[in-house]
Amino acid sequence: MTKALISAEGLAKRFPQGQGQPPLTVFENLWFEIAHGEFACIIGHSGCGKSTILNALAGLDTASEGNIIVGGKHVEGPSLDRAVIFQGNALMPWLSALGNVELAVSSRHKDWSRAEVREHAMKYLDLVHLNGSELKKPSQLSGGMKQRVGIARALSIEPQILLMDEPFSALDALTRGSLQDEVLSVRAKTKQTIFMITHDVDEAMLLADKILLMTNGPKARIAEIVENTLPKERSRTDLHKHPNYYPLRNHMIEFLVTRSRELAGGAGAKPGELRHPPVVRPTIGGTTHVETARSSQPAESTAATDLQAGRVSAA
Ligand SMILES: Nc1ncnc2c1ncn2[C@@H]1O[C@H](COP(=O)(O)OP(=O)(O)O)[C@@H](O)[C@H]1O
Ligand SMILES: [Mg+2]
Repeated sequence: MTKALISAEGLAKRFPQGQGQPPLTVFENLWFEIAHGEFACIIGHSGCGKSTILNALAGLDTASEGNIIVGGKHVEGPSLDRAVIFQGNALMPWLSALGNVELAVSSRHKDWSRAEVREHAMKYLDLVHLNGSELKKPSQLSGGMKQRVGIARALSIEPQILLMDEPFSALDALTRGSLQDEVLSVRAKTKQTIFMITHDVDEAMLLADKILLMTNGPKARIAEIVENTLPKERSRTDLHKHPNYYPLRNHMIEFLVTRSRELAGGAGAKPGELRHPPVVRPTIGGTTHVETARSSQPAESTAATDLQAGRVSAA
């Protein structure tokens, strides 16, 4: 039994190719779990299938093989419990910021009065600091403000899970930074479970509890799960001062530069590790490798007993 809210079990995505050719396998043997309230980021090079995975979690695409289980149920289509924030904001251009959020709120709460819908939509526009701009159309808003409307719209339906596909990648560095702060403060209030794609290592270190490292395609897979070893109360301004910052950052950069390529095409895949990719904790003292076969751990397992029993070892 697992306590995960989201389980991806043996996902694969294959596309048919020309006659006589084997199908193109974008990814296969993809396994991961995300716990209630966890913030997981996935990092991997372009084309390895990250957006396909996110869309499958959203119920907007399907995997060729495998199962996605959310809250004990198979994902079979979109749900208001899983909101998506896309890279482009995907706003209705003819509606104001408020109108865009109200549309989402009224799809969730069909029995609410106009006044109730408006009040609820304004609450979420306030949360992302858009009060005062609520009557502007998307064309009158900056890129950062449009993305804020997208975030307010997704949050306003109070989904159990937030799925974000490189939500800040089209924004300048300053706007990106302030939106990252906003996501952190909103998340502190809402305690949502979040799955986010990024190609920015620093963004992942600031936001995520754990980072899924994906190999290059074809036959991409999750090669490793990196635990964020920075303190939970971290901010953009003090992140780099922590002793674990560079070990954590270097570990991920090294993966993206070297190992993601070496492991492409399914190379180096150990059968026992496919289902439970290795979990690692990079710290100033070195990178420890955390045993993943949780089911075999005794209930009273602690860090000290794990160490004695060899369940936690230096990599
Ligand atoms: N209809 C299709 N036929 C063949 N390959 C496709 C098709 N649609 C998508 N792909 C391939 O699937 C891969 C994964 O795409 P995507 O999920 O967008 O990757 P990412 O988000 O990691 O950049 C890409 O390499 C793309 O070329
Ligand atoms: Mg993508």
